[in-house]
Amino acid sequence: MNILVVYATTEGQTRRIARFCADHLHGAGHTVELLPAAEGAELDLARFEAAVLLASVHAGRYQPEIGTFASAHAKGLNRLRTLFLPVSLAAAGDDADELADLDRIATDFAAETGWTPGRVEQVAGAFRFTQYDFFKSWAMRWIAARKGEDVTPNEDREYTDWSALRALLADWAG
Ligand SMILES: Cc1cc2nc3c(=O)[nH]c(=O)nc-3n(C[C@H](O)[C@H](O)[C@H](O)COP(=O)(O)O)c2cc1C
Repeated sequence: MNILVVYATTEGQTRRIARFCADHLHGAGHTVELLPAAEGAELDLARFEAAVLLASVHAGRYQPEIGTFASAHAKGLNRLRTLFLPVSLAAAGDDADELADLDRIATDFAAETGWTPGRVEQVAGAFRFTQYDFFKSWAMRWIAARKGEDVTPNEDREYTDWSALRALLADWAG
């Protein structure tokens, strides 16, 4: 298949996950184009059979550029086989309210953009302390402490399950 992978990121973890998806799908014999959402305005989706979209959750929302991309291309996306991978820290835990919130954010996103993903899978992200400014670092350390996570300032902590992601991609693309 000719597969488009489009992502939005703030601290870089979603870019890493998007690149992993692109590499994995390419390794499985597909032709893959990897693109930041902000650069996708002019894209012609007609040459793709499938698309993976990724964005991360910050304060209950995805990056605006993924919304802009999905709205602009909703018609084209709805014709393709699609997978939406929202990235968050809530997905790393088992708090029922937080997980329900992730579902609501994804449902609202579909309603707002007009794109109905063929499949949605929540993906655990990371604390990226190496990318945070002073205030973000302080806030994220507070969140980590509240969750009982023992983090070290200036050290990233990744929760992404790469082998689960590999299995998911094989299942979806297969
Ligand atoms: C300022 C800020 C706000 C965040 N808000 C949320 C949130 O509301 N829910 C959540 O589950 N994760 C939240 N996160 C965690 C991010 O979704 C997580 O770190 C993710 O890996 C970020 O991906 P990115 O590096 O591609 O931007 C937040 C992170 C930051 C820095």
